[in-house]
Amino acid sequence: MEEVFADWRQYYEYIWTVRQSIFDEILAAESSLARTLAKFTTLEEKYSIGLSDINDATSIVYSKHENADDDAISKLERRVIGAARSALFEFSPYHTFNEGALLNDFADGVDCVIEIGSGYGKKLFQMWLNGGSEDITYIAAEPIKAGREITRKLAALEPGMRIEVVDFDFDKPDLGILKKFNKVLLFTSWSLMYAKTLNADFFDNIVSIPGEVKCVFIEPISFQITRDTQLSVIQHQNAVRHQHNLVH
Ligand SMILES: C[S@@+](CC[C@H](N)C(=O)[O-])C[C@H]1O[C@@H](n2cnc3c(N)ncnc32)[C@H](O)[C@@H]1O
Repeated sequence: MEEVFADWRQYYEYIWTVRQSIFDEILAAESSLARTLAKFTTLEEKYSIGLSDINDATSIVYSKHENADDDAISKLERRVIGAARSALFEFSPYHTFNEGALLNDFADGVDCVIEIGSGYGKKLFQMWLNGGSEDITYIAAEPIKAGREITRKLAALEPGMRIEVVDFDFDKPDLGILKKFNKVLLFTSWSLMYAKTLNADFFDNIVSIPGEVKCVFIEPISFQITRDTQLSVIQHQNAVRHQHNLVH
């Protein structure tokens, strides 16, 4: 998180407001969810995207990354540092980890999937586009309004996807919406890391859901378990620098 932002909330209000304008531009000429997400990913890969005037969501500025104009061969030769099984590796920029497929496996047999801190719904849409079941209700729970609005616009491209978009904050956990389901997959992805401390209510709320709940947390917090790997040291440094959750 850049130091100019007071906290995660201000940061994500900015981030999702900017992204909302970008999605609006893409959606003006696109009606496929898969292609909209792919175009957005390409833009994010090539440019650092911000606003010239923080109060004007349409004043988008695209600053090209150094290697944005690389041809395919140059890009193939490039390496990005990434993590797998607690170790750091050099990956091709073409390599992606399929979280949608992973989450679909966890969602086997559930009637509801809820993502807390869902941003614009990327992970839920990845599930869907990887063959996620049409019998599941997908719930995107996100505290920032612009994130929820993007999710709704993207969801409109997939009428077969049963999706609900709700306001949710770890600090004021209310999971009443889950009462009507028998078996729930509750997951977070790079969002719980922002909660400096987690209110015990959060877990009480999960336990009090009448149906069965499976929890999956995809978070860069390995340092909370051990700090004897290069990856956990880097994750700890990032958490300290950005004042994220440091509990261990
Ligand atoms: C890095 S984004 C990840 C978005 C999404 N989970 C994904 O993987 O694409 C972090 C998200 O966490 C959300 N978040 C941060 N603090 C939160 C809190 N206290 N309660 C709920 N969500 C929170 C932010 O609003 C933001 O949308």
